[in-house]
Amino acid sequence: MNSIPSLPIIEARNLTVRFGERTIFENVSFTIHRGDILVILGGSGCGKSTLLRTLTGLNQPTEGQVLIDGEDFTAAVGAERTRLLRKFGILFQSGGLFASMSLAENIALPLQTYTNLSENDIETMITLKLGSVGLDGFQEFLPSEISGGMKKRAGLARAMALDPEILFFDEPSAGLDPISSVSLDNLILNLNSALGTTMIVVTHELDSINKIAKRALMLDRDAQGIIAFGTLDEVKNNISNPRINHFFNRIAEE
Ligand SMILES: Nc1ncnc2c1ncn2[C@@H]1O[C@H](COP(=O)(O)OP(=O)(O)OP(=O)(O)O)[C@@H](O)[C@H]1O
Ligand SMILES: [Mg+2]
Repeated sequence: MNSIPSLPIIEARNLTVRFGERTIFENVSFTIHRGDILVILGGSGCGKSTLLRTLTGLNQPTEGQVLIDGEDFTAAVGAERTRLLRKFGILFQSGGLFASMSLAENIALPLQTYTNLSENDIETMITLKLGSVGLDGFQEFLPSEISGGMKKRAGLARAMALDPEILFFDEPSAGLDPISSVSLDNLILNLNSALGTTMIVVTHELDSINKIAKRALMLDRDAQGIIAFGTLDEVKNNISNPRINHFFNRIAEE
């Protein structure tokens, strides 16, 4: 039987980002396949958040393209761009919830904005989405009335409101206690295996990397680009660059 190789769900092609004179990364190319969990690693300030923002269109690359399912997202405008954006869910570091709205209202917002669902259907979706992150029953709570870990999970429920094909996370476990952090990792793994959602996660928590990563991409500030990319084991066993070894063994650098 002939099998047609599937298109990468994301392809970064020669991405360069400069802010003024300063180059953050240059000529970065890689592909991500459907269903992958890719972690983006690297020291502080090497451009992890910038790369995530560039992949999601929050930051326009200075050069290069991002392709989504083979379509040029960087050049897309108007309805075409909106259609591609709907494939994404993004979990921001803070959880990204609107403080003055209940959890139900937070999740309802993207559904009211982007779908024609009736109020009844939206209610059902809210229950489903909150249920999928273990928060059914917390519909009427305000973000300030729940814990940090619950806020992250509620943010995830909102990011998933439109059933995105790709979920992006910027340091999801930042500020969480170890137990909440483990439960978020479990949730990421469960959603990935149950729904096949492609996950791109910026993190430098080693426990989390070891637990969730299928593939890893390591950026480096001095190299202004990728110093390792592959399966987690491939990246960990790449001893050609001492920075990688240092990262995984937590050896302080001067
Ligand atoms: N909009 C911007 N304008 C100018 N400089 C920026 C902008 N966004 C990011 N930078 C700079 O780009 C560099 C990379 O920042 P970025 O936030 O991507 O790093 P990071 O790897 O996510 O770091 P951290 O681990 O601390 O979150 C930093 O020096 C930052 O100051
Ligand atoms: Mg960052």
